[in-house]
Amino acid sequence: MASSSSLCSSLSFLLVLSFMAGFASLVNAGNFDQDVDISWGDGRGKILNNGQLLSLSLDKSSGSGFQSKNEYLFGKIDTQIKLVAGNSAGTVTAYYLSSQGPTHDEVDFEFLGNLSGDPYILHTNLFSQGKGNREVQFYLWFDPTKDFHTYSILWNPIHIVFYVDGIPIREFKNLEATKGVPFPKNQPMKLYASLWDAEDWATRGGLVKTDWTQAPFVASFRSFNADGCVEGDGGSSCNSKGWMNQELDGESLNRLRWVQKNYMVYNYCSDVKRFPQGLPTECSASN
Ligand SMILES: *[C@@H]1O[C@H](CO)[C@@H](O)[C@H](O)[C@H]1NC(C)=O
Repeated sequence: MASSSSLCSSLSFLLVLSFMAGFASLVNAGNFDQDVDISWGDGRGKILNNGQLLSLSLDKSSGSGFQSKNEYLFGKIDTQIKLVAGNSAGTVTAYYLSSQGPTHDEVDFEFLGNLSGDPYILHTNLFSQGKGNREVQFYLWFDPTKDFHTYSILWNPIHIVFYVDGIPIREFKNLEATKGVPFPKNQPMKLYASLWDAEDWATRGGLVKTDWTQAPFVASFRSFNADGCVEGDGGSSCNSKGWMNQELDGESLNRLRWVQKNYMVYNYCSDVKRFPQGLPTECSASN
């Protein structure tokens, strides 16, 4: 019965593998109870399912938000988000890294809601030493309210990359040494998320207001995974992490170009009217 016993052992091998994979994903998935604090919203933010799910809600009196307990100096952060469904016009779901103070660094994902059936805009921005004005906006290639999708930030000494479902949509390169453009690398950042009302500008530039009869609006978060470095050691605690020196390979660059060609709605680097004195320095390096 050699064949059946080897079938048996390969089956148990598979079982062990899937057990290990399940265990690893449990360890990696993060737990909102352990990893974040609901920071505002007076009960409108809730951690559910033993820390596996977090929901933020917004009504006429207030929105809500959470922040990570840890600060990261370089990191790879992934979160699955399901955005406000139906008529979400006027609402903004923000998911971002930020440091503190007047010369802060910040890496933003902001999802601008819309009327039912009209597309969300994914608005991104990047502040370095207090200077932002680096907006790039996209439509998504799926309905972000139907399912959870993964939104990630990779921040290493080479670049900051925004990803949607593992596809890079935007890259901000570290051009500090070559072009003198400040790059976030000294100030530790926390991860923040919030759901709030911005009806004066969010949807079609403020033309479409929030329909409060649809409140409360709810956005959900799960599988929060922040793999970051300990602050203050210039990244040396992360030298063993694969993503610390990860660059975009040819395949990733092709995908980035595909997204930018087909889904980009606005890019500050093409907005010559806005910068009559000349486009920001980093724009000449195809950021
Ligand atoms: C909302 O839908 C309109 C019409 O399709 C579109 O022009 C706009 O870019 C969409 N998104 C936002 C956030 O306004």
